[in-house]
Amino acid sequence: MNKLLIIFLVFNFINADEISQSLVKNNDENSFITEYEYGKMLWKNPRGVSCVKCHAKDAKGKFISKFTHVTRKNTYNCFVKSNDITDISREDFIRKLDPSVKKKRIKFEKHQVCEKLIYGNTMPKYFLTKNEMNSIYYYITHIKDNDE
Ligand code: HEC
Repeated sequence: MNKLLIIFLVFNFINADEISQSLVKNNDENSFITEYEYGKMLWKNPRGVSCVKCHAKDAKGKFISKFTHVTRKNTYNCFVKSNDITDISREDFIRKLDPSVKKKRIKFEKHQVCEKLIYGNTMPKYFLTKNEMNSIYYYITHIKDNDE
């Protein structure tokens, strides 16, 4: 990649963060858009596949798809689903979303063949700014029952 392009990309990245920060300065009525609304917008449209598609609007999880995995000895019917993430810790949330944060290594038991195949291989990578991740986190941990 040439240098100019890299500079341009980095500049854009920084700028996007500044702009979004200025939009979400505070949560009072005077602000242009609340963190809740901003997070909701990103949850639905995060510059990539919508989180809603796999996590449901309310972030409580849903069935995504199924597949069959055949080994020499066994056949596994695997169900891809997402879990409720409305009470996830900020740390776990950021670890999942931020490509620069080292992932935890999960030890799967021998029988957890489907889990091992699915984990980390279904959700696309996103390139969200810190501020955007925090807003999505704010939204999913505060979703109102009557939200549309
Ligand atoms: C194509 C489907 C898909 C999309 C789109 C998707 N996810 Fe996921 N996500 C999954 C699946 C499946 C899991 C569980 C397996 C795993 O952790 O890899 C998961 C796990 C997670 C977890 C980790 C939960 C935990 O217990 O640690 C978080 C947080 C999360 N998703 C947030 C998001 C956010 C925010 C978006 C949008 C920016 C998003 N996901 C988009 C499928 C998806």
